[in-house]
Amino acid sequence: MEIIIAPDYEEMSKISARIIALEIRRKHDLVLGLATGDTPVGTYQQLVKIHQEEGLDFSKIKSFNLDEYVGLAPLHKNSYNFFMRENLFEQVNINMANVFVPQGNTDDPEEYCKWYEEQINNYGGIDLQVLGIGRDGHIAFNEPGSSFASRTRVKALFKQTIEDNSRFFNSIEEVPRFAITMGIGTILEARKVLLIANGKNKADVVASFIEGPVTSQITATALQLHTHVTVVLDEDAASNLVRKDYYNWVRDNKHLVQKMVGR
Ligand code: GLP
Repeated sequence: MEIIIAPDYEEMSKISARIIALEIRRKHDLVLGLATGDTPVGTYQQLVKIHQEEGLDFSKIKSFNLDEYVGLAPLHKNSYNFFMRENLFEQVNINMANVFVPQGNTDDPEEYCKWYEEQINNYGGIDLQVLGIGRDGHIAFNEPGSSFASRTRVKALFKQTIEDNSRFFNSIEEVPRFAITMGIGTILEARKVLLIANGKNKADVVASFIEGPVTSQITATALQLHTHVTVVLDEDAASNLVRKDYYNWVRDNKHLVQKMVGR
C-alpha cells in the first residue's frame, strides 16, 4: 500500500486527480470505478479543471459507480446518479452511453446486481477504482461483516452510516435503509485502487484500516490483500497513523523507491 499524506484537502484532491488523469492518459478507454460522498468532490473538481485547461479526454472512458440507494430514481436529487452528473459527468466530455451507476429503483434488485457485474466483466474489468471510506470502515456500502468474497448486491445500512449520510437529506427518516453496492470481491478485482480520506473524523478508521489487522469488521482492511493500492490522505485523516514518518520518507524519496521496486 502506498500512503501519500497531503497537507490539506486541496492538495489531497489535486494529487488524487493527477493519479486518475495519468491513468486516463495511459489508457484512453480506461474503465474507471467511481465513488460518491464529500471526499471525492474536490478530486472531481480538479479533474474538471484538468479537462478544461489541459484537454484531458474522457470521451472513450467507461465508468462504473460503486453504489446507489435502493428506492431512489436516477433523477432524485439525493441519488448518487444525480451526484455524479452534477459533480463530474456534466462537466467533462464523457459519453453517457459508457456510464454505469447502479439503478436504485429497479424492480428486481437481485437480477439487476447480476447484470451490473456482467457489465463490468463485459468491459474487461475495472482498471482503477476510486474509493472513499465510511467512519465504520466501509468501502462502497460494504458494512462491517461483509464477506471479502461479496459481489454486487443489496446491503442494509448501519445506523451510523444512515446518520452520517442524513446531512444530504431533509431528515433522517428520508435516508434509505438499503443500498445496491459492489462487493468487496468486486472491488478487489480492480487492477488498481485509489482510496481518498480527509478530516479528523476519519483519523481512527484510517489508522485501523492501514495499520490494523485484516477483518471483515472493517471492510476497508480487505485492501491490505490487494497488490496495487494508493491511499491519499490529508494531515487530519493521517493524524493517528503510527508509521507516518516512514510513509513520508517513502513519498519524499520516490525516485529511490521507484528505482528499487519499479513502481
Ligand atoms: C457513503 C458512500 C461511500 C463513501 C462514504 C463516505 O457511505 N457509500 O462510498 O466513501 O459515504 O462519505 P464521505 O466522503 O462523505 O465521508
